[in-house]
Order: sequence, then structure tokens, then C-alpha cells
Amino acid sequence: MKKIYIGADHGGFELKEAIKAYLEELEYDIEDFGTDSLESVDYPEYGKKVGEAVVANQDSLGIVVCGSGIGISIAANKVTGVRCALCNSIELATLSREHNDANVIAMGGRTAFMDDPLDIVQAFLDTEFLGKDRYIKRKEMLDCGC
Ligand code: RB5
Repeated sequence: MKKIYIGADHGGFELKEAIKAYLEELEYDIEDFGTDSLESVDYPEYGKKVGEAVVANQDSLGIVVCGSGIGISIAANKVTGVRCALCNSIELATLSREHNDANVIAMGGRTAFMDDPLDIVQAFLDTEFLGKDRYIKRKEMLDCGC
């Protein structure tokens, strides 16, 4: 089973805790980078930590949560090798894995979801990259910044 790194700011704390409890119940191997309360913190720190961990462990995936999901997804995507997708539906989570080989999912703890957030996470974890030649080429373009 893949290692899962998870992190959030205060705006994503409650959803991060719910996702963590769900995945722990299913016996996923989780490492939580915080934050650990509703006290205000800076999302770039948590996006970076999760992104760096995912890149350091090629067979892992990451989950990042802030209020909107936007700031922490931008932060994670600043780490070379991270392909972070902000998803509010099972459809987007599935496509992010199939077409983009997204290695981090971002979610907005204070936003509306089209599906249950736990089902969105599960779809992200269950779906594999399709690995078609054109998808591999585009992924390489993303990873080299060209
Ligand atoms: C924090 O108030 C909020 O700005 C943050 O969680 C996030 O929504 C930023 O993109």
C-alpha cells in the first residue's frame, strides 16, 4: 500500500482530520505534517512539506487541504515533481490520476463538494495513471517546466 502524506492549514484542519481518521480506519500508512489545531497558520509551509515528502518517496501520494484548496495547491505545485490537482468531485480526482498522474490532491475544507470528500479521496487513491504515450509526454513536459 502506498504511503500517504497529508497536511493542512487551519482552514483545512477539520477536513484533514476527517480524511486522516477515514484512512487510518482503512489501515493506510499515513504521515501527518499538521497543522494540529484551528489556530491560524500559513498554508505555503504545509503544501511545501507534503510536496517535498511526495517527491522524496516516488511511490507515495499526498493530500493537502486549506480553506479553498487553492493556496495550498499552489504551494505544493511550486515543488518540482509535484503534480497537485484541486478536486471537488470524484470525476476530477479520477481524471487527475488517469491523465495527469497527479501525485497530490488538494481540497477546500470550506468549499462545496459535488461528492462526499472521503469518496473523492478514495477515488484519487484507487485510480492509476493510464500511461498512454501522449499522457507520458505531457507529464514529462510538466515535470521539466517546459
Ligand atoms: C486561510 O484563511 C485561507 O486563506 C486559506 O485556508 C486558503 O483558503 C487559501 O487559499
